Amino acid sequence: MKTYRANLGRDDPAIRREASADLVRFWDGQARLLHWFEPWKETLQWSPPFARWFVGGTTNVSYNALDIHQADKADKPAILWEGEDGSSKSVSYGDLHCRVQRAANALKSLGVRKGDRVAIYLPMIPEIIVSMMACARLGAVHTVVFSGFSSKSLADRINDSGAVVLITADAGYRRGKKVPLARTAAEALASSPGVRHVMVVRREASPQNDMPDEWMDWSDVMKYPDECAAEPVSSTDPLFILYTSGTTGKPKGVLHGTGGYMTHIHSTFRWAFDISDADIYYCTADVGWVTGHSYVAYAPFLCGATQLMYEGAPDYPDASRTWQMLQKYHVTIFYTTPTALRMLMRHGRDAPGRFGLDSLRLLGSVGEPINPEVWVWYYDKVGGGRCPVIDTWWQTETGGMLISALPGIESIPLKPGSGTLPVPGVDMAVLDEGGAPSAPGTKGYLVVRNPWPGMMLTLWGDEKKYRDTYWSRFPGYYYPGDYARIDEDGYLWLLGRADDILKVSGHRIGTAELESCLVSHDHVAEAAVVGVPDQIRGEAIVAFAVLRAGFDGAGIEPELKRLVSEQIGAVARPDAIHVVPILPKTRSGKIMRRLLKGLVTGGDIGDTTTMEEPGALEEVRGALGKGAAPQ
Ligand code: WT7
Repeated sequence: MKTYRANLGRDDPAIRREASADLVRFWDGQARLLHWFEPWKETLQWSPPFARWFVGGTTNVSYNALDIHQADKADKPAILWEGEDGSSKSVSYGDLHCRVQRAANALKSLGVRKGDRVAIYLPMIPEIIVSMMACARLGAVHTVVFSGFSSKSLADRINDSGAVVLITADAGYRRGKKVPLARTAAEALASSPGVRHVMVVRREASPQNDMPDEWMDWSDVMKYPDECAAEPVSSTDPLFILYTSGTTGKPKGVLHGTGGYMTHIHSTFRWAFDISDADIYYCTADVGWVTGHSYVAYAPFLCGATQLMYEGAPDYPDASRTWQMLQKYHVTIFYTTPTALRMLMRHGRDAPGRFGLDSLRLLGSVGEPINPEVWVWYYDKVGGGRCPVIDTWWQTETGGMLISALPGIESIPLKPGSGTLPVPGVDMAVLDEGGAPSAPGTKGYLVVRNPWPGMMLTLWGDEKKYRDTYWSRFPGYYYPGDYARIDEDGYLWLLGRADDILKVSGHRIGTAELESCLVSHDHVAEAAVVGVPDQIRGEAIVAFAVLRAGFDGAGIEPELKRLVSEQIGAVARPDAIHVVPILPKTRSGKIMRRLLKGLVTGGDIGDTTTMEEPGALEEVRGALGKGAAPQ
């Protein structure tokens, strides 16, 4: 068998040794690599399941990302930005520092203080990063809402977080089309009375009618003084809330802190990506998701790195766009998703070879399981056989990577499809149903056995849900909700979600959220949603709807799809919706999604003895035969 190595010539066994000797002391040492205004008194306060890192210490993430680089990197590009239309601009560390301070002063003038929440609804433009860092500078808590979300999703997040300011833009551009963000924002504001002020980035030259006069124009924001000292923030104070789907109908507000989070992403970014001053780093994640928070908006700047930020779709106007950008900007480190890779691979296995990609030296993947075939293609064709491919496993809740090969500190054999080992200072295991370690090679549940610095503080406003969701399945351990197996070398293989969460194009979508949206339609009595394997996106969404008596379902499929786009956002739009007479359920009334999935995929239906209505499955099968098959 061919061997692959994470070999960049780095070998620092002391890191793992120190971490396994005493992980609290180890993380203490990592935190010292950053700037603190006041040192901490206690490295870790662990009153399960709440961890408080670097207690008593004060720091500021924006200070660590910007101020500390001004002496030697003021002219170094922080962001090389490319618009979808091909326009580009470069923002230096000096520039970014000025802009963040101006924006922080503008927020201050609107009354924003430490602890206040600020909602950010922006496309992939440098202002999204400026806004986040401006909040961080004041100790305000940002909640970024992905610009593909609907007005309802935006309003829900604004209201739940209690945001007092919203930062948005007149428009975003995606696949050549204008996305009218300001209009969506205005709709959301109609039902979020807590927002006192709006700032708007204007990208279109023409004045927009859908924008009220009292919104503060970004050009005015940029007239505020460019000096605003970073507020000393307690290590355990919150930095941001980021909403993510869970197994209930309502998204969860994952609350992250300051010092622990910063330490975790700073360390893992260096270990995984071997970052140096000469690198051009490109992560394709939208800042609206956690990868874009940790490894676009924060970690690269903590490390003084230069990164490429691209506004649009990776295959627009065609699939060569990504390769062209890698070539044009001499990208050295490329971090993307299996979905993007599968899409690019389908458009031409040999396409990367037609571009000058010699600058690449390290490749990463994140967000969903990567199939070995795609991994090997990534390694061979994109990396030209020279670049380690790292498969990084983590979650919104974990703040930063927990599993990855780390070419920046060690050279280990890579196995296509395996995330390899937990990062130093993190102790993980795979358990069976009863909580005993699974035998090597056996599928079980992934758990983390110790607190780590990047772990969330809690769920915003819902401590009980925090305990129940993550700490009750295996008492004492953090339960992420993923299946995994561990092999004879201790390598971890991630096997997808163990709960009712789908991963569509790497986006996390809760079936419960979708189902509650579908049943909000007057004609729908009951709904069930399943994920079915999709060659490109990992999973595709298939929905089943039982209609209320008296409705025949004519025209309902497009209507329900539209409803989902409006209520949640286009990312959650089902691929197919089947109208069925009944849903298979257990005797206790739980929908048996496993059976529905089996029916659509033609796969194994499994045990049906717990089904309440023995004939239900045949009825659904009959209805499927009549209706349109999923594309
Ligand atoms: C879920 C978390 C990681 C940040 C972006 C997604 C899945 C994530 C991998 C991977 C297999 C992965 C898990 C996890 N996942 N990375 N390398 N291999 N699965 O963050 O939206 O919070 O989703 O994504 O199922 O629980 P997220």
